[in-house]
Amino acid sequence: MTDIITITPSPAIDLSTSVERIVPVAKLRGKTQRRDPGGGGVNVARVIRRLGGDARAIYPVGGAIGKLLRQLLDQEGVVSQTWAIAGETRENFFVDEIGAGRQYRFILPGPRLAESEWRECLTLVAALEPFPRYLVASGSLPEGVPDDFYAQVARIAKQRGAKFVLDTSGPALAAAAAEGVDLIKPNLREMRELTGSEPSDAYEWEVAARDLVGTGKATVVALTMAHLGAALVTRDEVLRAQPILITPRSAVGAGDSFLAALIWRLASDASRADAFRLAVAAGAAALLHPGTELCRPADVARLAEQVTIERG
Ligand SMILES: Nc1ncnc2c1ncn2[C@@H]1O[C@H](COP(=O)(O)OP(=O)(O)OP(=O)(O)O)[C@@H](O)[C@H]1O
Ligand SMILES: [Mg+2]
Repeated sequence: MTDIITITPSPAIDLSTSVERIVPVAKLRGKTQRRDPGGGGVNVARVIRRLGGDARAIYPVGGAIGKLLRQLLDQEGVVSQTWAIAGETRENFFVDEIGAGRQYRFILPGPRLAESEWRECLTLVAALEPFPRYLVASGSLPEGVPDDFYAQVARIAKQRGAKFVLDTSGPALAAAAAEGVDLIKPNLREMRELTGSEPSDAYEWEVAARDLVGTGKATVVALTMAHLGAALVTRDEVLRAQPILITPRSAVGAGDSFLAALIWRLASDASRADAFRLAVAAGAAALLHPGTELCRPADVARLAEQVTIERG
């Protein structure tokens, strides 16, 4: 039985290349060419698979790009459960400017979903048999999908006795938090939007996270603060991880890698501290290599030994 199923309402194919310099008008000849599956929940499932776990991915499939996405995931050993949509699956476009050490990330709008199309996802989730222990929804909502979509998924998970994990932003996150979810993984920007506050130091951020727990918006808040580390906040404890010192070569996939490692370990009944340690290592590991590559298991294992966790 699959313990973890991810939901990605807005998946993508990430097309990436690298050029020496970006200048207008001239033909910029890419030195490399790569296509990766993309989108929050899709990446979470891929990282879990890479780390040796098992996660299924639910996402909509449209047109030739959608077929390609499914094929690429098949090749990585991620089992897909899809539903068909009329629009073409989204593509994103990433360019590394090697000379300047900069990365450009173009996130394209993707297709609009009709009401019948997003409702089909809810039907599919409600009918999962057996239901997973962890349902992980991640990423933005496509045009046409109402802000309370994830709140509706949260309700289904609750009815089925599963843990609902959410990594998203803005009104979609706010609506699901109002419903109450098991775990959220806001970064600082998402935390600001969700709480409407502007904490000035790590302690104040933790107080804001505790408040989300205290008001029943989330049982666990995994607050990630990029190079400043992370905090895992529950009703009875705060775990703090000091950041790992690395030189980032990419900005892609830290959040997804963090969440994947965390949920994979929690689903394997590891302690919260051990799961958190691996998550911090996976987030940092995602940034070690240029391009769109996700974290490598050997890097995750090596970096995990450098993570210090304090109890607050
Ligand atoms: N520059 C960094 N140095 C060390 N670790 C990092 C760095 N950036 C991210 N991490 C690790 O990855 C985790 C998640 O990163 P971050 O807080 O940037 O999430 P995010 O904003 O959701 O990322 P994404 O842009 O991938 O959505 C951090 O908690 C940290 O453990
Ligand atoms: Mg994120």
